[in-house]
Amino acid sequence: MYTYHADTLIVGSGLAGLMLAYSLSQDQHVICLTKAAWQTCNSYKAQGGIAGVTTPDDSYNSHINDTLLAGRYHNNFERVATLIQNSPQIIERLIQLGVPFDTNAFGELARTKEGGHSTARILHSGGDATGKNIMTTLKSQLPDHVSIHDFTQGIDLLIKDGICCGVWAKNSDNQLLLYTAKHIVLATGGVGQLYERTSNAITITGDGIALAYQAGAGVTDMEFIQFHPTLLQVPGLEEGILISEAVRGEGAVIVNQNGEAILKNAHPLKDLAPRDIVARALYKHFLKGDTLFLDITKVHHFKQRFPSIYAMCQKAGISLENKKIPISPGAHFIMGGIEVDADGRTSIKGLYAIGEAACTGIHGANRLASNSLLEAVDSALSLAGYINACPKQQGLADHHRKVIYLERQRIHLQYDAPYRKVKQLLPSKQAIQAQVTHHCGILRNSCDLLELIDWLKPIIDTFSGWPITLLNPQEAERWHMITVAWLMATSMLERQESRGAHYRSDFPDEQEAWLQKRIKKECGIYEY
Ligand code: SIN
Repeated sequence: MYTYHADTLIVGSGLAGLMLAYSLSQDQHVICLTKAAWQTCNSYKAQGGIAGVTTPDDSYNSHINDTLLAGRYHNNFERVATLIQNSPQIIERLIQLGVPFDTNAFGELARTKEGGHSTARILHSGGDATGKNIMTTLKSQLPDHVSIHDFTQGIDLLIKDGICCGVWAKNSDNQLLLYTAKHIVLATGGVGQLYERTSNAITITGDGIALAYQAGAGVTDMEFIQFHPTLLQVPGLEEGILISEAVRGEGAVIVNQNGEAILKNAHPLKDLAPRDIVARALYKHFLKGDTLFLDITKVHHFKQRFPSIYAMCQKAGISLENKKIPISPGAHFIMGGIEVDADGRTSIKGLYAIGEAACTGIHGANRLASNSLLEAVDSALSLAGYINACPKQQGLADHHRKVIYLERQRIHLQYDAPYRKVKQLLPSKQAIQAQVTHHCGILRNSCDLLELIDWLKPIIDTFSGWPITLLNPQEAERWHMITVAWLMATSMLERQESRGAHYRSDFPDEQEAWLQKRIKKECGIYEY
């Protein structure tokens, strides 16, 4: 029988998931499911760093104001203030854990700048290997009461009497597994892989957001997708390679084929304007047929300061001798996601979300650079505090789990044959990516969005109501992508203004009437 029980089940192995696993009390049996190897996540790839107020020259107010300005005041102000005020302790905690942050010649923490920050407050490690160093440090210290089940993908949630009490999963042999727990935590990251061009890890397909929505949890702000301006632009390169904004923080400038700095007159902060503004400016140049480069002439000791980026450029065949890196924007981060309260609780009892999969409202309409690792740790610590304080409870009895599992197998037998034909209607991953890229890009309009919604509707109608656990892991991933594309496209259509990362070419202005208005999606709870 393929059933497991834990006190807390975490789906996803990025920084939020592993920090939560690390911070739960020792009497908790914790299982962490991850659909590939634990390192295949965005946190591991994070380059630039982690923002926080760590010098007397900086202030909470300054970091808060930068976050709100970048987020175009769509942020949850109270939560922004709490996050920023927690930042010194969060960074201290990472240092205590052993994260080797870079230091300057005086042995002080080295700090850099990124877009939208009014001062240099971003700490980094290994030059541009901040995520990798945080993650390997954390993973090496996970206690014995935490087990990671890798290559195991959450397919569907188990909801009983309105309470989330389990996750149906599949391993790489397509075996059906049932995990039950008192606390189910979605920490699956964002949606970058819905686009053809993205900085995100291959696994980042919106699974947690889709699982929560399909189970009836509130999902909000799905129109706010952030595009990173500088991904390496090499034809035929399969994986999106990020060129950190910290490179601009150290003096690099975006130029066109004639060597002209294109952001000179676009914003007072020029190349370090908030990310949405830079990405849009670049995109408009591409529409004119320009070729764009990151000119790194002014970056001192590029190879030493950015060793991973240097190595990735070499591997991709880009010589840095002429000091120019070809770039173009790509999907990077979703500000929206599963709506949660300050502890990480969703609208369904027993179900929680943390990290990028969650929408705390902190990032508003456009996330300030390097606030996401900070939020990942903060949300994990808040939820750990909540779960640790909950009274321990018996989970589902073994025989009850067995009955549920056998019942699901019976349903599979009943549906398997007719479902085989239906499954063929599920589009390929590439087809979904092409549709989303074309219709939900940096600039969007109602015509394009309606076209995508028309394409998605019959697929959604066909699959709704079928037992999703009949799908194999790849099919389930595509179903999750379809669900998330629907949430994004319908939210983008509904917000008839432009704000932060959401830019409607048919509604190009930010409108007072939309300030702090959130688009929330919910669907009926269904149970088996
Ligand atoms: C980067 O290094 O440019 C990414 C930082 C971030 O997304 O916060």
